[in-house]
Amino acid sequence: MFKKKIETQINPEMMDNLDPNRIPHHIAIIMDGNGRWAQKRHLPRVAGHKQGMETVKKITKVASDLGVKVLTLYAFSTENWKRPDQEVNFLMDLPIKFFDKFVPELIENNVRVNVIGYIEQLPEKTQKAVLDAIDKTADNDGMVLNFALNYGSRAEMVTAMQKMATAVQNNELAVEAINEETVAEYLMTNSLAPYQDPELLIRTSGEERISNFLLWQIAYSELLFTDVYWPDYNGVELVRNIIAFQNRDRRFGGLKKENK
Ligand code: FPP
Repeated sequence: MFKKKIETQINPEMMDNLDPNRIPHHIAIIMDGNGRWAQKRHLPRVAGHKQGMETVKKITKVASDLGVKVLTLYAFSTENWKRPDQEVNFLMDLPIKFFDKFVPELIENNVRVNVIGYIEQLPEKTQKAVLDAIDKTADNDGMVLNFALNYGSRAEMVTAMQKMATAVQNNELAVEAINEETVAEYLMTNSLAPYQDPELLIRTSGEERISNFLLWQIAYSELLFTDVYWPDYNGVELVRNIIAFQNRDRRFGGLKKENK
């Protein structure tokens, strides 16, 4: 079923190089290059974001068909407020436009919406669109489409530390009991358990930075940087990137299999 669904979009030879049993459970993407995509076409920057939203739809469908469990997309960072008001306003309206049209398709594909980030700081109408989408897809048990919205990894860690300190103060948590699992439980990605950590992090547009994204969670992730601008990214690119991931030697601090 997996092969049939995907092969309609991607050439079969390429699919032969993909191992369906080793699809990363959690893929995280820094969707970069919208502005440059637009600039290249002499269009306003926001036209790139609009086209980027179309890519989100395509990639959600392909990732879900491939059997990915969690797809995390960096849609707005805690630092993106520094952009001109007009662009910020446009970005705040995008989730409204997106969910308004796309929720029925998400339901059809059994995709559940989740969000990490400080959504209480978003405009009311954006919050409402996000919370409605979470609510309407709550019963779906297929892929989780996880938007990082007003998200920043350092802020996430500070919040987690504050909550842990409060729990210690209230005698609900013993200092000696704090370990890596405890920290993971206090981070926003706890809502993605058991797939909190992405095995694969992709950044589009040729930039090779992490930009305050999932700093704790990517400790052992494979990082993949592609030159393709996000509006041009598609299912073929995603499959190509997953094949590259499958060809990596993941050692987690150990040795190569043949050296053991
Ligand atoms: C980075 O490109 C992109 C963003 C800051 C916004 C990403 C948002 C989308 C792709 C749409 C999200 C859709 C939904 C449904 C929320 P950039 O503007 O920094 O590009 P540049 O580096 O070329 O200027």
